[in-house]
Amino acid sequence: MKNMLDVIVSRRSVRKWKPDAVSDGDIKDILEAAMNAPSAVNEQAWQFVVLTGKILEDFVKINANTPKGSPVGILVCGDKKLDKLGGFYVHDCCAATQNILLAVHAKGLGGVWTAIFPNAIPEVGRLLNLPDHVHPLAFVPFGYPVSERTKPASRYDETKVHRNGW
Ligand SMILES: Cc1cc2nc3c(=O)[nH]c(=O)nc-3n(C[C@H](O)[C@H](O)[C@H](O)COP(=O)(O)O)c2cc1C
Repeated sequence: MKNMLDVIVSRRSVRKWKPDAVSDGDIKDILEAAMNAPSAVNEQAWQFVVLTGKILEDFVKINANTPKGSPVGILVCGDKKLDKLGGFYVHDCCAATQNILLAVHAKGLGGVWTAIFPNAIPEVGRLLNLPDHVHPLAFVPFGYPVSERTKPASRYDETKVHRNGW
């Protein structure tokens, strides 16, 4: 296991994968990481749909901005029924999505956060039988990366740091 800061700064989006399957144990660990994200009043207003095989192929046809070819992916959905404060499920789900990306990377896998554009939501909902109160927000396809990892590049930008005010 790498040092957590190394995991964070060396993570980069991966969009090409080997066909090798990811083990159920690894997928469960990644979901565990997702579900340990912080959430507003600990509401955990999320649901996760794991996609593989034909249904994953059908999904990426609908959500064309998701790169094709991963062996597996996780759709992160907001659950409006669990959104106790009203309006915070998006924040909860973004935190969960970042945890997924970091867990994927920590395991030597690679993935990318992809958006679910509003115009794709109805068709995604029909394909996956999502209930009306479940809002698909992000999809992370992942697997074993084809190429070696790129070296971490520092993105530290002092001009974006403001101390005690702007
Ligand atoms: C909200 C959000 C939506 C994104 N949507 C897509 C997407 O639809 N397709 C894609 O290939 N990458 C998508 N990305 C990945 C970004 O392009 C990527 O994170 C960014 O270029 C920085 O590169 P890095 O992840 O390698 O650091 C998205 C990232 C975020 C946070």
